[in-house]
Amino acid sequence: AMMGKGNHRHFMLKEIHEQPAVIGDTLHSYVDPATRTVALPALPFDWNKVSRITMTGCGGAYYVCMVAKYWFEQIARLPVEVELGSEFRYRAPPLPEGGVCIAVSQSGETADTLAAVRYAKAQMQHILAVVNVPESAIAREANVVLHTLAGPEISVCSTKATTTQQTVLLATAIAAGRARGTISAAEEARLVAALIELPALINEAMNMEAQYRGIADGVLAEARDVLYLGRGTSYPVALEGALKLKEISYIHAEGYAAGEMKHGPIALIDELVPVVVVAPNDSLFDKTASNFEQVKARGGKLVLLSDSDGVKRLGPQSVATLTMPAIDPVVAPILYTIPVQLLAYYTAIAKGTDVDQPRNLAKSVTVE
Ligand code: G6P
Repeated sequence: AMMGKGNHRHFMLKEIHEQPAVIGDTLHSYVDPATRTVALPALPFDWNKVSRITMTGCGGAYYVCMVAKYWFEQIARLPVEVELGSEFRYRAPPLPEGGVCIAVSQSGETADTLAAVRYAKAQMQHILAVVNVPESAIAREANVVLHTLAGPEISVCSTKATTTQQTVLLATAIAAGRARGTISAAEEARLVAALIELPALINEAMNMEAQYRGIADGVLAEARDVLYLGRGTSYPVALEGALKLKEISYIHAEGYAAGEMKHGPIALIDELVPVVVVAPNDSLFDKTASNFEQVKARGGKLVLLSDSDGVKRLGPQSVATLTMPAIDPVVAPILYTIPVQLLAYYTAIAKGTDVDQPRNLAKSVTVE
């Protein structure tokens, strides 16, 4: 089918704006809003018999695995290893028989992820494939396909595939938690309600175009290096933000676990290095706030992503703030992925780069 950009200047912006709708479509397949329960396809194993989950992906999909690790650990109390496809396949680690391998891939064709899946299969793992293309090579290798209903993604820089992958994996972690009795029916209902609310909150987060543009033009586009910091599930969001920025604006960016800052990146802080702090209002907020203050004390230029309480607290010390709607901390990494996408997009616009076709990058890496 012919696909256009609609009223949007780039596929990336069109696909960012599709997120409320495609997350809604994806949720439709994985949760029952009437009963506030998750509804996954039938699985060929019992979550109670699973000793370990191994998650694998490349690029942005790897960061999605990192977020999901927190979910499976916290909600289902399951040990999770997260592996880059390209490392996992050659390291060839021993895997416990009857474990579960979850492969995450938009295209379902990434060579290293496919090789990782084949290795896990040979190690007697059950394979779950979280893919956007159900007839892809990775889907064909899987025991069960967990389809993200993002629709075709054209922009090299992944956006709606990322957030639908997160959505599917949170639903899966909730299903595992219910099966294992590590969360109650009431907790399942609360988490499902928070997921259902997500499309509306993403809409709110997108409706601040002037602010994203302002930070891109006034702070990020002039920088040579940008740091992104976050803790807990915000750490992979920081990594994702840095990846997006370097992919399309060609500005050097690094994501760091906020607590690791004093072990290296703090040496880089001066008034020329913007530091984007991903700080939703969760149990780690105070810890992140103290890292924020360490950056401030060294003259760093802080860009704060938080909700109105966080902005009230740290806003006065920031050069710029983005106020996200209040959200359940479990779902926050999905919502906070939106502002890091838009900051990268508008920075690339300010730099005049080719947003949909960044140099040297391919949409799908089917060779090693
Ligand atoms: C390429 C794309 C990225 C994507 C990665 C993994 O590097 O540019 O956007 O995250 O491949 O692709 P996959 O199709 O496996 O999700």
